Amino acid sequence: ALVHNVAVVFTEKQEALVKESWELMKLNIPDLSLQFFTTILEIAPAAKGMFSFLKDSDVVPQNNPKLKAHAVKVFKMTCEAAIQLRAKGEVVVAETTLRNLGSVHLKKGVADAHFEVVKEALLRTIKDAVGKKWSEEMGGAWAEAYDHLAAAIKAEMKEEV
Ligand code: HEM
Repeated sequence: ALVHNVAVVFTEKQEALVKESWELMKLNIPDLSLQFFTTILEIAPAAKGMFSFLKDSDVVPQNNPKLKAHAVKVFKMTCEAAIQLRAKGEVVVAETTLRNLGSVHLKKGVADAHFEVVKEALLRTIKDAVGKKWSEEMGGAWAEAYDHLAAAIKAEMKEEV
C-alpha cells in the first residue's frame, strides 16, 4: 500500500460519538438499511443500475440480504475507521480486504461522486436513527471517518486501473 497519510487527530470524544450512535443503529438494522438505500436512490437515481439487488426491481426491496450486507458494511467499516483514526491517526484496512473492495467497486463502475452520495445518505440515516442525540459534532466525526475510509478505497481503485 502507498504510505501517503499524515497522522490525523481524531479525538476520544469523536470516537465515542461514532461508537455510541452505531450502538443505537444496531438495534434497527433492517429499517436503517432500507432507509440508507432509499436515500442513496433519492439523491442519485442512476445508482440503481449498479446494484445487483436493485436493478430489476421498481422499489427498494425489503429484507434483501445483499442490501442489508452493503449497508451494514458501510456503517460498520466507517465505525471501525473511526476507532483506528483515534488509535493510529490513520485508517488501516487489511490488504486483501482493500484489494477486494477496490476491484469490486471498480468493476461495478463506482466513481468518486458516488462516494459523496453514499456519505450524504449515511449522515442522513444516522441523523434519523439517533434522533435527539444528533449533533453537528457527531455528524462531523462520522464524516471524517468515512472520508478516510473512502480515500483508502478510491486509492486502491486507482492503483488497479
Ligand atoms: C459491494 C463496502 C461505497 C457500490 C461492496 C462490498 C463491500 C462494500 C464490503 C462487498 C464486496 C464483495 O462482494 O466482496 C463499501 C464501503 C463503502 C462503499 C465500506 C464506503 C466507504 C460504495 C459506493 C457505491 C458502492 C459509494 C456506489 C454508489 C457497491 C456495489 C457493490 C458493492 C454496486 C456490489 C453489490 C452487489 O451488487 O451485490 N461494497 N462500499 N459502494 N458496493 Fe460498496
